[in-house]
Parts: sequence; structure tokens; C-alpha cells
Amino acid sequence: MSTKLNKLIQERYSPRAFSLQKVEDEKIKLLIEAARWAASAFNGQPGRYIIGEKGDENYDRIFKALVPKNRLWNKNVPVLIMTLAKATNSYNGKPNMYAQHDLGLAIGNLTMQAMEMGLFVHQMAGFDKTVAKEFFNIPDDFIPMTVIAVGYLGNVDELPDDLKKMELGTRVRREYGQLVFSGDWEKMK
Ligand SMILES: Cc1cc2nc3c(=O)[nH]c(=O)nc-3n(C[C@H](O)[C@H](O)[C@H](O)COP(=O)(O)O)c2cc1C
Repeated sequence: MSTKLNKLIQERYSPRAFSLQKVEDEKIKLLIEAARWAASAFNGQPGRYIIGEKGDENYDRIFKALVPKNRLWNKNVPVLIMTLAKATNSYNGKPNMYAQHDLGLAIGNLTMQAMEMGLFVHQMAGFDKTVAKEFFNIPDDFIPMTVIAVGYLGNVDELPDDLKKMELGTRVRREYGQLVFSGDWEKMK
């Protein structure tokens, strides 16, 4: 048993420099397989995925829905996956307040599976959800949540200067004491 932070967690970051290299079909399938095995409230499995591979119709639609700033660095990205959460429980039709939580868990699995296979992912909220719903004729019960760029690492020097700076900048995180509380919430600030 190791007492170190998991290597894949340590190595993960959200790159903007992606290679044009195609992602193998079996690896794309394994990403969804990893998402499929995530825990979910009442085993509701609310996550849904639209997979676009560069050159196909899904990809073009997803790419067009991205905000311009994201489009800029997504030009090379070989796979774009739109993620959606089913907003209601299948068993009673009532709102599933854990749908987005559980989709997030599934994406956590997908992310680690990607790292295990030498791939990186970069999640994006920056896309037009209304346009995405129109493009794919998505029913109201499904909430488009993110688009995930998936691929192999590319050359940072090919990025525009501002994006290159972001890519190479220091990554910051809250300290342990700013995340973990106990006792009276008001006294912990
Ligand atoms: C739900 C979600 C939405 C995000 N949206 C965008 C986005 O639209 N564009 C972008 O460049 N990065 C986006 N990011 C990436 C975050 O900026 C990034 O994860 C954060 O700065 C931490 O950096 P790291 O992933 O390299 O640790 C998003 C990340 C998440 C989880």
C-alpha cells in the first residue's frame, strides 16, 4: 500500500496543447467504460455522452458550439465529448438532485482512465448549451454540462502567446485548512 498521492492524479492537468494524433477506437470505448462503472445515487447512471471524432458530423457540431476562446485551442483536438446529465430519475420521473454530481464522478473515472492510457483531457463549460441542444435535438430532460477535449499532448510552442503562458503558469490550489472544516462553521472562517 502506498502513502503517496496517486501518480495519475499528480500528473494530471488540463492542457491546451494537443497533438493531432488520432485516439484509438478501443481507447475511446474504454473512456466510456470507465465512466460507466462510476457510483451513482440509486445506481441512476445519469451521465450521457456524445462523442465526436475529428472529421465526423458530431465533432463539427460540438466544435461549432464552443465559445470562440475555446475554439482557438481546440483546433488540433482529435476527440470532443459532450457530457449531459439526465435531470430526472428514470424510476419515478422526479428531479434527480444528484444527476450532476454523479456525472462528475463518471468524468473523474474517465479522466483517470485517460491518464492511464497516455491521454489527457480538458473539460470545458464554455460552449453554447442552447445551440448544442438544437444541433443534437436534445430533449429538455437532459442538461448539457461540459465538452471534454481528449487527446495526446501536443507542442506548447504552437499555442498563441497568452495561452502558452496559461499552459506553463503555476497551478494553484487552496490549502488543506481552507477546504476541511470541523466544529462551528462560523468560527472556521
Ligand atoms: C466543469 C469545468 C469547466 C471548465 N471550463 C473550461 C473552459 O471552458 N475553458 C478552459 O479553457 N478551461 C476550462 N476548464 C478547465 C479549468 O480551468 C481547469 O481545470 C482549472 O483551471 C484547474 O487546472 P487543472 O485542470 O490544470 O488542474 C474547466 C474545468 C471544469 C472542471
